[in-house]
Amino acid sequence: MNIPHTRLAAAIAAGLMMLPAMANAADGLEVSHLGVNNTLVRVTGNAPFLILPVQESIDDARVNVLVDGKIADTFYIRLAKNKTDFTVPYDLTPYKGKNVVLDIVTPQGRASVREASEDVAWSNMYLSDTFDTSNRELKYRPVFHHTPLYGWMNDPNGMFYKDGKWHLYYQHNPYGSKWQNMSWGHSTSEDLINWEHEPEALRPDGLGSIFSGSAVIDHDGTAGVGKDAVVALYTSAGTNQMQSMAVSHDNGTTFEVFGGNPILTLESEARDPNMFWNEETKEWNLVLAHALDHEMLFFTSPDLKTWTLQSAFGKGIAAQGGVWECPDLFRLPVDGNGTEKWVLLCNLNPGGPFGGSATQYFIGEFDGKTFKSDTLADGTIPTKWLDFGKDHYATVSWSGAPDDRRTVIGWMSNWEYAAEVPTSQYRSANTLPREMEIFTAPDGELYVASVPSPEMLALRDKTVVSASGKKLGRKATSFNIPASTEGLCEIVADLEAAAGSKVELTLSNKLGDKVVMVYDAANHTMSFDRTKSGVVDFSENFPAVTVSPTFETDGKVSLRLFVDRSSIELFGNNGRFVMTNLVFPNEPYLNLSLSADGSARLSNLKIYSVKTK
Ligand code: FRU
Repeated sequence: MNIPHTRLAAAIAAGLMMLPAMANAADGLEVSHLGVNNTLVRVTGNAPFLILPVQESIDDARVNVLVDGKIADTFYIRLAKNKTDFTVPYDLTPYKGKNVVLDIVTPQGRASVREASEDVAWSNMYLSDTFDTSNRELKYRPVFHHTPLYGWMNDPNGMFYKDGKWHLYYQHNPYGSKWQNMSWGHSTSEDLINWEHEPEALRPDGLGSIFSGSAVIDHDGTAGVGKDAVVALYTSAGTNQMQSMAVSHDNGTTFEVFGGNPILTLESEARDPNMFWNEETKEWNLVLAHALDHEMLFFTSPDLKTWTLQSAFGKGIAAQGGVWECPDLFRLPVDGNGTEKWVLLCNLNPGGPFGGSATQYFIGEFDGKTFKSDTLADGTIPTKWLDFGKDHYATVSWSGAPDDRRTVIGWMSNWEYAAEVPTSQYRSANTLPREMEIFTAPDGELYVASVPSPEMLALRDKTVVSASGKKLGRKATSFNIPASTEGLCEIVADLEAAAGSKVELTLSNKLGDKVVMVYDAANHTMSFDRTKSGVVDFSENFPAVTVSPTFETDGKVSLRLFVDRSSIELFGNNGRFVMTNLVFPNEPYLNLSLSADGSARLSNLKIYSVKTK
């Protein structure tokens, strides 16, 4: 939606001559340059939004928002110097009727005030009744995955389910497409497919920016802020990290920051508090990532505010990586046989199986105070990965999901190149929501399976390709995915391969971009090669081949693939193996071809077009 706005483009040359420090400013704004890198913008108009122009390639300017002379807000933005890549809104409604002045320190040294006054930012910022929310990223912005309306996104945060709504908060930079100004963006959904964008829920304050955390519904009012209040814990990231609390009395739309923050401090870097009510011990549990120490800390509390450290887990165990982040701890059913085990999710960066960030997990027991991981026969604790793609991180679960579901969602990117991917007005999507359970693999070990949430079945629209009982050979069997799908589809393929055979599935377009997936029945692996998938040269870490165990012994794999413009998620054998990988094809993949080295059969193939509301 592009709403016309009033703008005084021709900045009153006469005014300029009378007031040398005033630049070409839009209606309702007065710009005064105070020096080579300091500019004041006074807001004299009444519109709710100040639209700010961003140029991706330059450094951040620091903006202090002075309201009636006091600093009400500080943020960082790549204010356009030579050209505007996109614009972002600054919400002025909280300051209605007050004196608002933006005190801006630009980073670039300028030779003179005259040069500083030539930055396009001064003439390209303007007041507006609304801001442009049109999707200018049609080529790569996913359609059935959650993405922020604009700006940078990383970890999912504070997710809870209440009154039929799935609340998803996320690490958000509202003023640009790179990591900065960490706030909690907010979206809600009734079906986990269609998302409504809600106002920003938590913004940086005097204690720092708002890093990752979790939220619960305090049914019994243990925190003393009322029954059924939504209580969020997050990391305040100032000079150092500490844990803070915020409370919502309107189902998560707005949060009041607790006056007694921080509620938990440590002497070393710790973040991403994840809490839950423990029905057995009748107290709150909290897991905190002791990031640089490669361990998770376990706390208890009666009231969500006072936390007692009980134990630590992780030092020297499994994948250690660079930092440990974003924990989650919950119970999952085992093999559907009525028993349950505890699962500790541990996101780490770098140190993932294919470089960069990834999620490992531990299966074991938790008594409310201590987590004890299962071991192998030799007493060691194995490394287990949740996803065997490169683009799956910070996965955590919804609190209070219905029917005892353990529904999780991840950030579909990798810290290695998230800020480099070829989109600009927005950056990053979430994975599809997934449901988890534990299964026993052929090696006798327990692993976690993740299947697409059942709601994803509603995505299926028309069956655009259908085939069965096809013998596969060296010559490829090819299927055209109709152009009307724009390449957005779900592919279901059941393969049977004789011992020692390999089956190759290739998604491609006419330009020669291709993604090659190979099921190797001898090694019981699946590989995913995106080295020629389209635009891959924005980072040397992007072209990659990822490989997953298939956890079968009979040469049969059932695949469900979701293709959504710039992402492919491959779920194998009911989520026993999952591979999430980004791709940036130059045009949609409209061909699927299968071939075999050895004896193999495509017992069933269905390609569905997808529908959202
Ligand atoms: C993980 C992470 C968290 C932190 C957040 C900051 O991706 O580094 O540990 O809270 O991102 O945005």
